[in-house]
Amino acid sequence: MTPPVSLAKDIFWVGVNDHTTDLFESIWPLPRGVTYNSYLIDAGKTALIDTVKKNFYEEYIGKIRGVLNGRTLDYVVVNHMEPDHSGALLELLKLYPQLIVVGNEKTAEFLKNFYRIDTNVKIVKDRETLELGSRTLEFYLTPMVHWPETMMTYEKQDGILFSGDAFGGFAALDKGVFDDQVDPSGYEEETRRYFSNIVAKYSAMVLKAMQMLAHLDIRMVASTHGLIYRQHPRHVIELYRKWSSYEADAGVVIAYGSMYGNTLKMVEACAGALEAGGIKPVMHDASRTHLSFIVNDVWKYAGLIIASPTYNMSLFPPIDAVVTFLDHTKVKNRSVGIIESHGWSGGASACLQEFIQRNQLRFVEPLVEARCAPTQENLVSCSRLAQAMAQAVRKA
Ligand code: FEO
Repeated sequence: MTPPVSLAKDIFWVGVNDHTTDLFESIWPLPRGVTYNSYLIDAGKTALIDTVKKNFYEEYIGKIRGVLNGRTLDYVVVNHMEPDHSGALLELLKLYPQLIVVGNEKTAEFLKNFYRIDTNVKIVKDRETLELGSRTLEFYLTPMVHWPETMMTYEKQDGILFSGDAFGGFAALDKGVFDDQVDPSGYEEETRRYFSNIVAKYSAMVLKAMQMLAHLDIRMVASTHGLIYRQHPRHVIELYRKWSSYEADAGVVIAYGSMYGNTLKMVEACAGALEAGGIKPVMHDASRTHLSFIVNDVWKYAGLIIASPTYNMSLFPPIDAVVTFLDHTKVKNRSVGIIESHGWSGGASACLQEFIQRNQLRFVEPLVEARCAPTQENLVSCSRLAQAMAQAVRKA
Protein backbone atom coordinates (compact mmCIF):
# COMPACT_ATOMS: atom_id res chain seq x y z
CA MET A 1 0.00 0.00 0.00
CA THR A 2 1.32 3.44 -0.97
CA PRO A 3 0.87 5.84 1.98
CA PRO A 4 -0.63 9.33 1.53
CA VAL A 5 1.63 11.58 -0.53
CA SER A 6 1.90 15.34 -0.06
CA LEU A 7 1.23 17.46 -3.18
CA ALA A 8 1.51 20.79 -1.37
CA LYS A 9 1.05 22.06 2.17
CA ASP A 10 -2.11 20.35 3.47
CA ILE A 11 -2.96 18.65 0.16
CA PHE A 12 -2.48 14.89 -0.09
CA TRP A 13 -2.90 12.11 -2.63
CA VAL A 14 -4.96 9.44 -0.87
CA GLY A 15 -5.67 7.31 -3.94
CA VAL A 16 -5.14 3.60 -4.45
CA ASN A 17 -3.31 1.35 -6.89
CA ASP A 18 -5.46 -1.38 -8.39
CA HIS A 19 -3.56 -4.50 -9.46
CA THR A 20 -6.51 -6.87 -9.12
CA THR A 21 -9.06 -5.68 -11.67
CA ASP A 22 -8.36 -7.48 -14.94
CA LEU A 23 -10.63 -5.39 -17.17
CA PHE A 24 -11.35 -1.69 -16.67
CA GLU A 25 -15.09 -1.11 -17.24
CA SER A 26 -15.14 -4.90 -17.82
CA ILE A 27 -13.70 -4.23 -21.29
CA TRP A 28 -10.19 -2.83 -21.25
CA PRO A 29 -7.21 -4.97 -20.14
CA LEU A 30 -5.02 -3.59 -17.35
CA PRO A 31 -1.62 -5.27 -17.75
CA ARG A 32 0.02 -2.60 -15.58
CA GLY A 33 -2.94 -1.93 -13.31
CA VAL A 34 -4.60 1.42 -12.78
CA THR A 35 -4.91 4.06 -10.06
CA TYR A 36 -7.98 5.72 -8.68
CA ASN A 37 -6.63 9.08 -7.60
CA SER A 38 -8.33 10.93 -4.79
CA TYR A 39 -7.02 14.01 -3.01
CA LEU A 40 -7.55 15.31 0.50
CA ILE A 41 -7.26 18.99 1.37
CA ASP A 42 -6.99 20.08 4.98
CA ALA A 43 -7.02 23.86 4.93
CA GLY A 44 -9.22 24.76 7.89
CA LYS A 45 -12.18 23.03 6.32
CA THR A 46 -11.43 19.58 4.95
CA ALA A 47 -12.35 18.35 1.49
CA LEU A 48 -11.85 15.27 -0.62
CA ILE A 49 -11.61 15.60 -4.37
CA ASP A 50 -13.23 12.47 -5.85
CA THR A 51 -13.11 9.05 -4.17
CA VAL A 52 -12.13 5.53 -5.29
CA LYS A 53 -13.72 2.30 -6.51
CA LYS A 54 -15.67 0.77 -3.65
CA ASN A 55 -13.59 -2.45 -3.48
CA PHE A 56 -10.71 -0.36 -2.14
CA TYR A 57 -12.63 1.41 0.60
CA GLU A 58 -10.74 -0.14 3.54
CA GLU A 59 -7.34 0.91 2.23
CA TYR A 60 -8.73 4.29 1.25
CA ILE A 61 -10.37 5.18 4.53
CA GLY A 62 -7.22 4.14 6.36
CA LYS A 63 -5.31 6.82 4.46
CA ILE A 64 -7.98 9.47 5.03
CA ARG A 65 -8.09 8.76 8.76
CA GLY A 66 -4.32 8.89 8.90
CA VAL A 67 -4.29 12.41 7.43
CA LEU A 68 -7.31 13.73 9.34
CA ASN A 69 -6.01 12.42 12.63
CA GLY A 70 -9.42 12.49 14.33
CA ARG A 71 -10.79 15.56 12.56
CA THR A 72 -13.96 15.35 10.51
CA LEU A 73 -14.49 15.55 6.78
CA ASP A 74 -16.51 18.58 5.63
CA TYR A 75 -16.80 18.23 1.85
CA VAL A 76 -16.37 15.72 -0.91
CA VAL A 77 -16.09 17.30 -4.36
CA VAL A 78 -17.37 14.98 -7.07
CA ASN A 79 -15.67 15.91 -10.32
CA HIS A 80 -16.94 12.71 -11.92
CA MET A 81 -19.65 10.22 -11.00
CA GLU A 82 -18.37 7.09 -12.78
CA PRO A 83 -18.27 4.49 -9.99
CA ASP A 84 -14.48 4.11 -10.14
CA HIS A 85 -14.47 7.59 -8.55
CA SER A 86 -17.77 7.81 -6.69
CA GLY A 87 -17.77 4.25 -5.31
CA ALA A 88 -16.80 5.20 -1.75
CA LEU A 89 -19.44 7.93 -1.31
CA LEU A 90 -22.04 5.90 0.58
CA GLU A 91 -19.51 4.55 3.06
CA LEU A 92 -18.07 8.02 3.59
CA LEU A 93 -21.54 9.41 4.27
CA LYS A 94 -22.14 6.70 6.83
CA LEU A 95 -18.92 7.58 8.60
CA TYR A 96 -19.31 11.37 8.29
CA PRO A 97 -23.09 12.01 8.28
CA GLN A 98 -22.63 15.79 8.03
CA LEU A 99 -20.44 15.46 4.93
CA ILE A 100 -21.53 17.79 2.11
CA VAL A 101 -21.30 16.40 -1.42
CA VAL A 102 -20.30 19.08 -3.93
CA GLY A 103 -21.25 18.77 -7.59
CA ASN A 104 -23.30 20.39 -10.33
CA GLU A 105 -26.92 19.89 -11.44
CA LYS A 106 -26.03 16.83 -13.50
CA THR A 107 -23.99 15.37 -10.63
CA ALA A 108 -27.09 15.61 -8.46
CA GLU A 109 -29.06 13.48 -10.94
CA PHE A 110 -26.38 10.79 -10.92
CA LEU A 111 -26.08 10.92 -7.11
CA LYS A 112 -29.77 10.18 -6.84
CA ASN A 113 -29.88 7.52 -9.52
CA PHE A 114 -26.72 5.63 -8.54
CA TYR A 115 -26.85 5.95 -4.75
CA ARG A 116 -30.22 7.57 -3.79
CA ILE A 117 -28.26 10.48 -2.30
CA ASP A 118 -30.39 13.62 -2.37
CA THR A 119 -29.59 15.43 0.86
CA ASN A 120 -26.41 17.21 1.91
CA VAL A 121 -25.73 18.02 -1.74
CA LYS A 122 -24.27 21.42 -2.61
CA ILE A 123 -24.88 22.36 -6.25
CA VAL A 124 -22.22 24.56 -7.82
CA LYS A 125 -22.24 26.46 -11.08
CA ASP A 126 -19.45 27.02 -13.56
CA ARG A 127 -16.65 29.12 -12.02
CA GLU A 128 -18.26 29.14 -8.58
CA THR A 129 -15.75 29.00 -5.73
CA LEU A 130 -15.61 27.22 -2.40
CA GLU A 131 -13.51 28.62 0.44
CA LEU A 132 -11.84 26.02 2.64
CA GLY A 133 -9.95 28.44 4.87
CA SER A 134 -6.45 28.90 3.53
CA ARG A 135 -7.37 27.39 0.15
CA THR A 136 -9.93 28.28 -2.51
CA LEU A 137 -11.42 25.85 -4.98
CA GLU A 138 -12.87 27.04 -8.29
CA PHE A 139 -15.12 24.75 -10.34
CA TYR A 140 -15.14 24.46 -14.12
CA LEU A 141 -17.98 22.54 -15.72
CA THR A 142 -16.52 20.44 -18.52
CA PRO A 143 -19.38 18.22 -19.70
CA MET A 144 -18.63 15.02 -21.65
CA VAL A 145 -15.04 14.77 -20.53
CA HIS A 146 -16.08 11.98 -20.00
CA TRP A 147 -19.73 12.04 -18.78
CA PRO A 148 -22.32 14.85 -18.80
CA GLU A 149 -21.61 15.87 -15.19
CA THR A 150 -17.81 15.95 -15.45
CA MET A 151 -16.19 19.05 -14.03
CA MET A 152 -12.71 20.11 -12.97
CA THR A 153 -11.60 21.75 -9.74
CA TYR A 154 -8.84 24.35 -9.71
CA GLU A 155 -7.01 25.03 -6.46
CA LYS A 156 -6.07 28.67 -6.72
CA GLN A 157 -3.18 29.10 -4.29
CA ASP A 158 -0.88 26.44 -5.75
CA GLY A 159 -2.39 26.24 -9.23
CA ILE A 160 -3.38 22.59 -8.98
CA LEU A 161 -5.90 21.40 -11.54
CA PHE A 162 -7.90 18.40 -10.34
CA SER A 163 -8.91 17.45 -13.83
CA GLY A 164 -11.11 14.37 -13.50
CA ASP A 165 -10.58 11.84 -16.30
CA ALA A 166 -8.92 14.44 -18.54
CA PHE A 167 -5.12 14.03 -18.69
CA GLY A 168 -5.40 10.61 -17.04
CA GLY A 169 -3.84 7.29 -18.02
CA PHE A 170 -3.77 3.59 -17.25
CA ALA A 171 -0.95 2.01 -15.18
CA ALA A 172 -0.60 1.86 -11.42
CA LEU A 173 1.88 4.16 -9.67
CA ASP A 174 4.03 1.87 -7.57
CA LYS A 175 7.28 3.76 -8.06
CA GLY A 176 6.00 7.26 -7.31
CA VAL A 177 2.94 9.30 -8.11
CA PHE A 178 4.71 12.31 -9.65
CA ASP A 179 6.11 12.70 -13.16
CA ASP A 180 9.53 13.65 -11.73
CA GLN A 181 9.76 10.40 -9.74
CA VAL A 182 9.54 8.15 -12.80
CA ASP A 183 10.35 8.29 -16.50
CA PRO A 184 7.05 9.71 -17.80
CA SER A 185 7.78 8.42 -21.32
CA GLY A 186 7.30 4.94 -19.83
CA TYR A 187 3.67 5.91 -19.13
CA GLU A 188 2.87 7.49 -22.49
CA GLU A 189 1.62 4.28 -24.16
CA GLU A 190 -0.77 3.58 -21.29
CA THR A 191 -1.87 7.21 -21.19
CA ARG A 192 -2.68 7.15 -24.91
CA ARG A 193 -4.40 3.78 -24.56
CA TYR A 194 -6.58 5.26 -21.81
CA PHE A 195 -7.29 8.33 -23.94
CA SER A 196 -8.08 6.37 -27.11
CA ASN A 197 -10.21 3.76 -25.34
CA ILE A 198 -12.11 5.95 -22.89
CA VAL A 199 -11.97 9.63 -23.80
CA ALA A 200 -11.32 9.83 -27.56
CA LYS A 201 -14.97 9.82 -28.55
CA TYR A 202 -15.27 13.14 -26.71
CA SER A 203 -12.24 14.77 -28.33
CA ALA A 204 -14.18 17.89 -29.31
CA MET A 205 -15.25 18.35 -25.69
CA VAL A 206 -11.65 17.90 -24.49
CA LEU A 207 -10.56 20.72 -26.79
CA LYS A 208 -13.47 22.87 -25.61
CA ALA A 209 -12.49 22.27 -21.98
CA MET A 210 -8.90 23.23 -22.78
CA GLN A 211 -10.08 26.54 -24.23
CA MET A 212 -12.10 27.15 -21.08
CA LEU A 213 -9.00 26.54 -18.94
CA ALA A 214 -6.57 28.44 -21.17
CA HIS A 215 -6.35 31.48 -18.86
CA LEU A 216 -5.42 29.42 -15.77
CA ASP A 217 -1.92 29.26 -14.33
CA ILE A 218 -1.78 25.45 -14.08
CA ARG A 219 1.25 24.40 -12.05
CA MET A 220 0.17 20.83 -11.37
CA VAL A 221 -2.20 18.45 -13.14
CA ALA A 222 -3.80 15.91 -10.82
CA SER A 223 -6.26 13.70 -12.67
CA THR A 224 -8.32 10.73 -11.52
CA HIS A 225 -6.01 8.12 -13.12
CA GLY A 226 -2.27 7.94 -13.50
CA LEU A 227 0.63 10.28 -12.91
CA ILE A 228 0.41 13.65 -11.21
CA TYR A 229 2.31 16.12 -13.38
CA ARG A 230 4.10 18.67 -11.20
CA GLN A 231 7.37 19.01 -13.12
CA HIS A 232 5.89 19.29 -16.62
CA PRO A 233 2.13 19.82 -16.31
CA ARG A 234 2.02 21.19 -19.87
CA HIS A 235 3.41 17.92 -21.21
CA VAL A 236 0.28 15.87 -20.57
CA ILE A 237 -1.96 18.78 -21.59
CA GLU A 238 -0.10 18.93 -24.92
CA LEU A 239 -0.44 15.17 -25.41
CA TYR A 240 -4.19 15.39 -24.89
CA ARG A 241 -4.38 18.36 -27.27
CA LYS A 242 -2.50 16.42 -29.94
CA TRP A 243 -4.64 13.30 -29.62
CA SER A 244 -7.91 15.23 -29.41
CA SER A 245 -6.90 17.05 -32.58
CA TYR A 246 -6.30 13.70 -34.37
CA GLU A 247 -2.64 14.53 -34.99
CA ALA A 248 -0.47 11.44 -35.51
CA ASP A 249 3.08 10.24 -36.10
CA ALA A 250 4.40 9.14 -39.50
CA GLY A 251 3.92 5.40 -39.10
CA VAL A 252 1.61 2.59 -40.14
CA VAL A 253 -0.42 0.08 -38.18
CA ILE A 254 -1.70 -3.06 -39.88
CA ALA A 255 -4.75 -4.63 -38.25
CA TYR A 256 -5.45 -8.01 -39.77
CA GLY A 257 -7.39 -11.20 -39.40
CA SER A 258 -6.49 -14.38 -41.22
CA MET A 259 -8.33 -17.70 -40.97
CA TYR A 260 -6.05 -19.96 -43.02
CA GLY A 261 -3.02 -17.79 -43.74
CA ASN A 262 -4.05 -16.37 -47.12
CA THR A 263 -4.84 -12.86 -45.88
CA LEU A 264 -1.67 -13.05 -43.80
CA LYS A 265 0.41 -13.71 -46.96
CA MET A 266 -0.82 -10.40 -48.37
CA VAL A 267 -0.23 -8.61 -45.07
CA GLU A 268 3.34 -9.91 -45.01
CA ALA A 269 3.93 -8.76 -48.58
CA CYS A 270 2.65 -5.31 -47.67
CA ALA A 271 4.64 -5.16 -44.42
CA GLY A 272 7.82 -6.28 -46.19
CA ALA A 273 7.44 -3.55 -48.80
CA LEU A 274 6.78 -0.95 -46.14
CA GLU A 275 9.88 -2.01 -44.24
CA ALA A 276 11.97 -1.96 -47.42
CA GLY A 277 10.77 1.63 -47.82
CA GLY A 278 11.92 2.59 -44.33
CA ILE A 279 8.69 2.25 -42.35
CA LYS A 280 8.42 -0.68 -39.97
CA PRO A 281 4.69 -1.19 -39.50
CA VAL A 282 3.12 -2.18 -36.20
CA MET A 283 1.23 -5.42 -36.84
CA HIS A 284 -1.79 -6.59 -34.88
CA ASP A 285 -3.53 -9.92 -35.37
CA ALA A 286 -7.05 -8.85 -34.34
CA SER A 287 -7.92 -12.43 -33.35
CA ARG A 288 -5.20 -12.43 -30.72
CA THR A 289 -4.75 -8.80 -29.68
CA HIS A 290 -7.37 -7.00 -27.64
CA LEU A 291 -8.79 -4.15 -29.70
CA SER A 292 -7.75 -1.78 -26.92
CA PHE A 293 -4.12 -2.03 -28.09
CA ILE A 294 -5.03 -1.80 -31.78
CA VAL A 295 -7.10 1.35 -31.24
CA ASN A 296 -4.20 2.81 -29.25
CA ASP A 297 -1.86 2.38 -32.23
CA VAL A 298 -4.45 3.74 -34.64
CA TRP A 299 -4.41 6.85 -32.46
CA LYS A 300 -0.62 6.93 -32.61
CA TYR A 301 0.01 6.50 -36.35
CA ALA A 302 -1.19 8.34 -39.43
CA GLY A 303 -1.53 5.20 -41.57
CA LEU A 304 -3.85 2.22 -41.12
CA ILE A 305 -4.09 -0.87 -43.27
CA ILE A 306 -7.01 -3.14 -42.49
CA ALA A 307 -6.83 -6.69 -43.81
CA SER A 308 -9.90 -8.86 -43.47
CA PRO A 309 -11.32 -12.05 -44.89
CA THR A 310 -14.96 -11.90 -45.88
CA TYR A 311 -16.97 -13.78 -43.26
CA ASN A 312 -20.71 -14.36 -43.67
CA MET A 313 -20.60 -11.77 -46.49
CA SER A 314 -19.27 -9.17 -44.09
CA LEU A 315 -16.16 -8.39 -42.03
CA PHE A 316 -14.24 -11.06 -40.15
CA PRO A 317 -15.70 -10.63 -36.61
CA PRO A 318 -12.47 -9.62 -34.78
CA ILE A 319 -11.87 -6.95 -37.45
CA ASP A 320 -15.52 -5.95 -37.27
CA ALA A 321 -15.07 -5.24 -33.54
CA VAL A 322 -12.09 -2.97 -34.23
CA VAL A 323 -13.87 -1.10 -37.01
CA THR A 324 -17.03 -0.68 -34.92
CA PHE A 325 -15.05 0.77 -32.05
CA LEU A 326 -13.17 3.12 -34.39
CA ASP A 327 -16.58 4.24 -35.63
CA HIS A 328 -17.57 4.98 -32.02
CA THR A 329 -14.48 7.05 -31.44
CA LYS A 330 -15.05 8.94 -34.71
CA VAL A 331 -11.41 8.63 -35.68
CA LYS A 332 -10.32 11.26 -38.21
CA ASN A 333 -7.33 12.32 -40.27
CA ARG A 334 -6.00 8.86 -41.10
CA SER A 335 -4.88 7.30 -44.40
CA VAL A 336 -6.45 3.88 -44.76
CA GLY A 337 -5.69 0.98 -47.09
CA ILE A 338 -7.72 -2.19 -47.59
CA ILE A 339 -6.67 -5.79 -48.13
CA GLU A 340 -9.48 -8.31 -48.47
CA SER A 341 -9.91 -11.96 -49.31
CA HIS A 342 -13.02 -13.94 -50.08
CA GLY A 343 -14.01 -17.40 -51.24
CA TRP A 344 -17.11 -16.92 -53.37
CA SER A 345 -18.94 -13.65 -52.66
CA GLY A 346 -17.18 -10.56 -51.33
CA GLY A 347 -18.41 -8.32 -48.55
CA ALA A 348 -15.53 -7.25 -46.32
CA SER A 349 -14.01 -4.70 -48.66
CA ALA A 350 -17.40 -2.97 -49.16
CA CYS A 351 -17.75 -2.68 -45.36
CA LEU A 352 -14.28 -1.17 -45.11
CA GLN A 353 -14.90 1.30 -47.91
CA GLU A 354 -18.09 2.40 -46.15
CA PHE A 355 -16.09 2.80 -42.92
CA ILE A 356 -13.64 5.08 -44.73
CA GLN A 357 -16.44 7.15 -46.24
CA ARG A 358 -18.44 7.41 -43.01
CA ASN A 359 -15.44 8.81 -41.16
CA GLN A 360 -14.11 10.90 -44.05
CA LEU A 361 -10.77 9.14 -43.95
CA ARG A 362 -8.29 9.15 -46.84
CA PHE A 363 -8.53 6.00 -48.94
CA VAL A 364 -5.12 4.80 -50.14
CA GLU A 365 -5.19 2.81 -53.38
CA PRO A 366 -4.95 0.20 -54.69
CA LEU A 367 -7.74 -1.77 -53.10
CA VAL A 368 -6.39 -5.33 -52.82
CA GLU A 369 -8.94 -8.11 -53.18
CA ALA A 370 -7.99 -11.78 -53.48
CA ARG A 371 -10.15 -14.75 -54.39
CA CYS A 372 -9.32 -17.58 -51.93
CA ALA A 373 -5.51 -17.50 -52.10
CA PRO A 374 -3.56 -14.45 -53.31
CA THR A 375 -2.15 -14.47 -56.82
CA GLN A 376 1.22 -13.00 -57.75
CA GLU A 377 -0.71 -10.00 -59.03
CA ASN A 378 -2.38 -9.58 -55.62
CA LEU A 379 1.02 -9.63 -53.92
CA VAL A 380 2.36 -7.00 -56.31
CA SER A 381 -0.72 -4.87 -55.47
CA CYS A 382 0.16 -5.21 -51.78
CA SER A 383 3.62 -3.76 -52.52
CA ARG A 384 2.04 -0.91 -54.44
CA LEU A 385 -0.31 -0.24 -51.54
CA ALA A 386 2.70 -0.13 -49.19
CA GLN A 387 4.45 2.42 -51.41
CA ALA A 388 1.35 4.62 -51.62
CA MET A 389 0.78 4.36 -47.87
CA ALA A 390 4.41 5.31 -47.10
CA GLN A 391 3.99 8.40 -49.27
CA ALA A 392 0.67 9.29 -47.61
CA VAL A 393 1.96 9.10 -44.03
CA ARG A 394 5.13 11.02 -44.82
CA LYS A 395 2.98 13.84 -46.19
CA ALA A 396 0.56 13.80 -43.25
FE1 FEO B 1 -12.28 7.01 -14.47
FE2 FEO B 1 -14.88 8.12 -16.49
O1 FEO B 1 -14.05 7.36 -14.98
